[in-house]
Amino acid sequence: MLETVDNDPPCAGQMVVLTLRSGAVKTRPWFVEYRKGKRDMVDRTDVGGAERLRIIITGHNGFIGSRAMKQLGRKHDVYGYGRKEGGITDYLAIKQFVANIAPDVVIHCAAMGDIGQCEREQDEAYRTNVLGTRNVASACNLSGAWLIHLSSDQVYNPKGGILRESTTVDPQNFYGHTKVWGEEEVRHLIPGHHVLRISWHYGWSESGLPGTRGGILEGFAETLRSGKPVRASTVNRGYVTYVYDLVDVMEDMILGLIPFGTYNIASQHDLTDYERAQHILLAGGIPEEELIDYLVPAVQEQVTYDMRAEPYNLKLLNRPIPSFETGLERCLEGKEELFSER
Ligand SMILES: NC(=O)c1ccc[n+]([C@@H]2O[C@H](COP(=O)([O-])OP(=O)(O)OC[C@H]3O[C@@H](n4cnc5c(N)ncnc54)[C@H](OP(=O)(O)O)[C@@H]3O)[C@@H](O)[C@H]2O)c1
Repeated sequence: MLETVDNDPPCAGQMVVLTLRSGAVKTRPWFVEYRKGKRDMVDRTDVGGAERLRIIITGHNGFIGSRAMKQLGRKHDVYGYGRKEGGITDYLAIKQFVANIAPDVVIHCAAMGDIGQCEREQDEAYRTNVLGTRNVASACNLSGAWLIHLSSDQVYNPKGGILRESTTVDPQNFYGHTKVWGEEEVRHLIPGHHVLRISWHYGWSESGLPGTRGGILEGFAETLRSGKPVRASTVNRGYVTYVYDLVDVMEDMILGLIPFGTYNIASQHDLTDYERAQHILLAGGIPEEELIDYLVPAVQEQVTYDMRAEPYNLKLLNRPIPSFETGLERCLEGKEELFSER
């Protein structure tokens, strides 16, 4: 029986039986690999985590890139590429770097990711997110590496309802437009690709890694430390995902367990921002009876923002993303008193 994804179908239809690390047995299409410039049909089901791959991570000093370096670097040879190495807007520099390292995979995290900054600095946003992505994809194409490209749920219109990979893209800001155009560059230039449309990710500060200021957890902690309550909308909705749940998916892609294509990545829940904030504050040690002192509804929010990009293609492949509650628990392990320590 052929399992398919509803957008960007798997590269090859031939099925193999695969035993996942969890012990579950699955069927999945064989991979078409683009290694060292050769297009090969390769059965990677025997990799089983034993093979040490060469991985370049662009934007390795950023929030997601640094955590990918940390986790993937335990099992693979990882090489960071940022501005210091030449930057992604310099085609010759990235092409030379990729040619020298000859990676199996490039994970492209470098971007201008601030929505407001992209709106204000549109030329630079286009140069970084579109032309920079073109440069990275071209360099991969020339060297035979495949590409894991980080896009965003901002490619969709957050007007409500569940958004799947087959939902027509309709970005509502310039950042979202650059993400759509960046995806197009990837699809045109490099057949061996995973495009990840990711939700808002969160994590916790870790020693030696860039902090998560502006992230949802530290944002809450900072607000509470300043003596103010957290404000959250009772009508808006959007998914948030623990960053290592994303890195785990990348790892499965690297191991060849997930066929090329486009994937929404998000932990799903049915909560409004206010309900989500309640969960987070309770999990971080605020007693239920005191919640009312720490969290107030943002009543001025009358414009409904509803961005729920379901990881539908991964579900069809029986590789769901852990729930919001599970991700939060994993993130807050050992920090259950986070907010009560203010
Ligand atoms: N974090 C999220 O919640 C989220 C949500 C949706 C999508 N995404 C996407 O996921 C990817 C990674 O996000 P992130 O949160 O890790 O972003 P981040 O923390 O802002 O990191 C981006 C990194 O890219 C680097 N960079 C920017 N321009 C560059 C250039 N021209 N050459 C080389 N490096 C450059 C930045 O360096 P400087 O610091 O020197 O500028 C920074 O280290 C991005 O594509 C972003 O759009 C993230």
